[in-house]
Amino acid sequence: MLNIIVLASGRGSNLMAIQAAIEEGQLDGEIKAVISNRRHAAALAYATEKGTPAIWISQEEEGSRKAYEKRLYQEVERIGSDCLVMAGYDLLLDWDYFQQYGKPILNIHPALLPSFPGMTAQKDALAYGVKYSGCTVHFVDAGMDSGPIIAQTPVPVLETDDQESLSQRILAEEHKLYVYVLTMLAQGRIMREGRTVRLAHDTESSTE
Ligand code: GRF
Repeated sequence: MLNIIVLASGRGSNLMAIQAAIEEGQLDGEIKAVISNRRHAAALAYATEKGTPAIWISQEEEGSRKAYEKRLYQEVERIGSDCLVMAGYDLLLDWDYFQQYGKPILNIHPALLPSFPGMTAQKDALAYGVKYSGCTVHFVDAGMDSGPIIAQTPVPVLETDDQESLSQRILAEEHKLYVYVLTMLAQGRIMREGRTVRLAHDTESSTE
């Protein structure tokens, strides 16, 4: 059973997909808490609805960004977890604290990294004129959207696409990809060596 802490700042559709996969028995896990830097994040309201601890940490109340990061790290340690899942969390983690976490930290990004990192990935992909974009689940490191790539799903960019339509089609794939990766993680099937990540599939593990 994978104990998950979700960090989210917004509407929380990836959180909802993960929770649904748990409820449907597809993912052997439990969301121990949802933590947000935004008081009115829909993700927090959803967690509360589900009876999951929903924690808001205010940067203003903590007094500084550094104090916020320290408190966030303390909360994560207090709750206990097997992994941290960033799902629409809009801050970078302070590596001074989080490099000590020692367990996987995952993020999902709405582009095929290393193309189009940052907060405007779908817009940037359209502006560049790529024919395929998609989504990426990766391990988090000290940089922005720069950690080792675990899995990706390509999504074709249509001539009729605007930011909204492309984002929606990518988002539908994000939900599947995150659940898939977390399922692999729960089953101990993700192997990481430096930047290279390998996923052991059924056929491989049954012959090992
Ligand atoms: C997703 O597109 C994710 O890739 C990006 O932020 C968005 C979060 O959406 N990092 P949601 O809050 O999970 O609905």
